[in-house]
Amino acid sequence: GKKGFIFDLDGVIVDTAKYHYLAWKKLANQLGFEFTPEQNEMFKGVSRKRCLNILLDIGGIKASQEQFDTWMVDKNDDYLEYIDNMDESEILPDVKKTLQYLKENNIPIALGSASKNAQPILEKVGLLHYFDTIVDGNHVTKAKPDPEVFLIAAQAIRITPENCIVFEDSLAGIQAANSANMISVGIGEHTILKDADFVFKDFTQISLEFLEKLINSKKS
Ligand code: BG6
Ligand code: MG
Repeated sequence: GKKGFIFDLDGVIVDTAKYHYLAWKKLANQLGFEFTPEQNEMFKGVSRKRCLNILLDIGGIKASQEQFDTWMVDKNDDYLEYIDNMDESEILPDVKKTLQYLKENNIPIALGSASKNAQPILEKVGLLHYFDTIVDGNHVTKAKPDPEVFLIAAQAIRITPENCIVFEDSLAGIQAANSANMISVGIGEHTILKDADFVFKDFTQISLEFLEKLINSKKS
């Protein structure tokens, strides 16, 4: 059947994980504890609310609902400041080449992200026009590894799940793609993304021949 491609945003299209990290670290430090890059690994693909819950666990802090809501806003305000200056130079290597190739071949392209800031980021880096649909943290009720975000994206581009190819940098995202019955392509380390159908270090390792094979595969 006809194929469709679904991209995660943070860590796949742009390296925003570093800005999320800085914003969470700032909050942690304000609350009087450290937050390390290693701990930040657990935050990839995870919703803002769940991240704050994990952060407060790390710091051993119990919060009232009111405090919790305030800290959610504080973190996001800081994150928005960090991403304010983003431009196309922050698109990860060869991502644009991949999107361009798919566009030229009339392949539907969707975004499937947990972030509520997805659309403004795509606008800032000048990639918004490549996407036929954006499904993000504003549209889902169940977070990855639940497949909801990718199933909604598939429906929006009118491609059956078996014919969708998902690019993801988080284990939760790979698991979401797998339970949606989609082809999962991990971007990052084999050791972390061990459930993926394919793993590449980054898009420079993905050849146009490989994309062509995916597009023409008859398996499903
Ligand atoms: C995911 C990131 O894409 O979006 C997570 O990997 C982040 O780290 C989540 O917490 C939610 O993002 P936002 O922009 O809505 O806070
Ligand atoms: Mg990601």
